[in-house]
Amino acid sequence: MPLLIRLARCATIDGRRFDLAALENAVIDTEQFEHVRHTGSDPVLSCRGLVKCFDEGPGRIEVLKGVDIAVMPGERVAVIGASGAGKTTLLQLLGGLDTPTAGSVTVFGQDIAGLNGTARGRMRNRALGFVYQFHHLLPEFTALENVAMPLLVRRMPMNQVRAQAVELLTRVGLQDRLTHRPGELSGGERQRTAVARALVTEPAVVLADEPTGNLDRNTGQKVLDLMLQMNRESGSSLVVVTHDMGIAGQMDRILELENGLLVTANV
Ligand SMILES: Nc1ncnc2c1ncn2[C@@H]1O[C@H](COP(=O)(O)OP(=O)(O)OP(=O)(O)O)[C@@H](O)[C@H]1O
Ligand SMILES: [Mg+2]
Repeated sequence: MPLLIRLARCATIDGRRFDLAALENAVIDTEQFEHVRHTGSDPVLSCRGLVKCFDEGPGRIEVLKGVDIAVMPGERVAVIGASGAGKTTLLQLLGGLDTPTAGSVTVFGQDIAGLNGTARGRMRNRALGFVYQFHHLLPEFTALENVAMPLLVRRMPMNQVRAQAVELLTRVGLQDRLTHRPGELSGGERQRTAVARALVTEPAVVLADEPTGNLDRNTGQKVLDLMLQMNRESGSSLVVVTHDMGIAGQMDRILELENGLLVTANV
């Protein structure tokens, strides 16, 4: 079935409502992104005093207690920390997928809390690529369609969308799985599809939550190599959450989440 016809039935993308009418009216300010991307002197992504509390259950949990970070253009940052330390929580806040209890997140100098839902979605599509810890692929769509989604949101011509999505899936070794749905892919293949979806837009910042967690060492390194290659070629920054010190060691710096604060790792 043609991609666009199926897309018209799609109600959500990345877990959010997908409103084509709103996108029609969206004027995407790419100039600002391009400009900041090439100056190299301002952070592409930063947060200040980031606090996140969860009120669920009997008590209040303060997961993040005042996190500061500034990610420079082209910089590669690893975030490590024990299970439950708040790594996913932090990444979701940095990606504008959740709202902080206190503090601010700034993408290209713009506070994302100050943006409405549509503008925030546009900012994410233009500037950020997110690899979720648990892939979040749309189950009713094929690998190719999942990877194509962020480009379709941009209203890119269909032949270009397909070519770019196929290229990325080929680069993660899934050229023979284009028409498989997530339920027909292995865990590692799903994760690679999710990585391809995050990279297909050549985002300024890739936020990856354990992108190689389900992969054998060899495949994991190949996926990381692709991210590092993109980092070199297009100057995209990387923020990678990982438990694997072999991967963390390939980044420019390693930060550790400990007791709700982000500190330089002692490794
Ligand atoms: N929606 C939520 N409601 C209540 N508590 C939450 C919620 N999301 C996360 N938490 C709690 O916040 C803490 C941090 O969770 P988070 O997922 O950020 O950890 P993590 O460092 O990514 O761990 P892992 O390495 O296991 O993935 C955990 O104790 C978790 O139980
Ligand atoms: Mg996590």
